[in-house]
Amino acid sequence: MFWVFLKLISVPLCVIVLDLNQSVHASTDWDILIFTQHWPITVCMQWKEAQEHHSCKILPENTWTIHGIWPTKVGTIGPLFCNHSLHFDPQKLEPIENNLLTYWPDIYNGSTTGLWKHEWNKHGTCAAILEPLDTEIKYFSKGLEWIHMYTMENILARAGINPDNMGYTPQQIWNAVKGSLGTNPDVQCVKDKKTGRWYLFEIRICFDKSLKLIDCDGVKGLKNNSNKIISNCPLTQTLLYPGHMPSDEETHEDSKPYRLSWLFQFLQIIQLVQWITL
Ligand SMILES: *[C@@H]1O[C@H](CO)[C@@H](O)[C@H](O)[C@H]1NC(C)=O
Ligand SMILES: *[C@@H]1O[C@H](CO)[C@@H](O)[C@H](O)[C@H]1NC(C)=O
Ligand SMILES: *[C@@H]1O[C@H](CO)[C@@H](O)[C@H](O)[C@H]1NC(C)=O
Repeated sequence: MFWVFLKLISVPLCVIVLDLNQSVHASTDWDILIFTQHWPITVCMQWKEAQEHHSCKILPENTWTIHGIWPTKVGTIGPLFCNHSLHFDPQKLEPIENNLLTYWPDIYNGSTTGLWKHEWNKHGTCAAILEPLDTEIKYFSKGLEWIHMYTMENILARAGINPDNMGYTPQQIWNAVKGSLGTNPDVQCVKDKKTGRWYLFEIRICFDKSLKLIDCDGVKGLKNNSNKIISNCPLTQTLLYPGHMPSDEETHEDSKPYRLSWLFQFLQIIQLVQWITL
């Protein structure tokens, strides 16, 4: 079958393109911190869709949770994994563990420390050149401090945007954050491949090295759009901001035969790895 051939060559191609695209910053210096909050329901939907056996854990409260604090050299991704001698030690987080479980949970695997270890090794070890972030407890406490100061569900609700499955334009979401904080955020969406609908996924806000809010202008991986809003969302479509997980009927109604192909699933994994590893 021709499409099988296409998929076969597109897998290595895809990996190469990803590598080129991401142009990970090689040195360990950086300009800004990107603080990313994600919407657990969208995260969970995406994760489950990628692989049938995936499950995820979302807390009953409809709150945005932390994905990470990412030191970033403007115009590139990263730096990443800056200091291998700063080993992740979960015990150091015991004093704040309960708060982390609520506000920085591992939605993907439901593990306790999996996401923390990943974020620390990949991003925390780069943030650590800054004194206020130079230990695990400081790095993760800063995330907790920021999610309390910049609670996304409140910021959006003040602009009349609530997780109610109504459609909102990317511009509305972006304006809500800009209007509340005064700085340009980065609004990220994902597309449900089965329904073709776009979902609100992450909202990123940026800080300079003195930990002052700044515009996210110049961060990489954005569509060039005429409205000048920083986003990967399609500006002409409305986004869903779901209040609950779709039911099983909704999830499975459209399962197509090719979903059974391992090749197709492999491609999905690659796409998933792309957004998860950010
Ligand atoms: C890595 O961390 C260790 C321990 O804090 C420190 O002594 C060293 O200078 C760091 N290395 C780099 C490249 O930042
Ligand atoms: C989930 O757990 C598996 C196995 O421990 C690990 O390889 C994978 O990286 C984890 N995924 C995420 C997103 O944490
Ligand atoms: C973005 O688009 C505008 C016109 O739509 C163009 O002038 C500009 O060069 C583009 N920028 C990039 C980085 O592609």
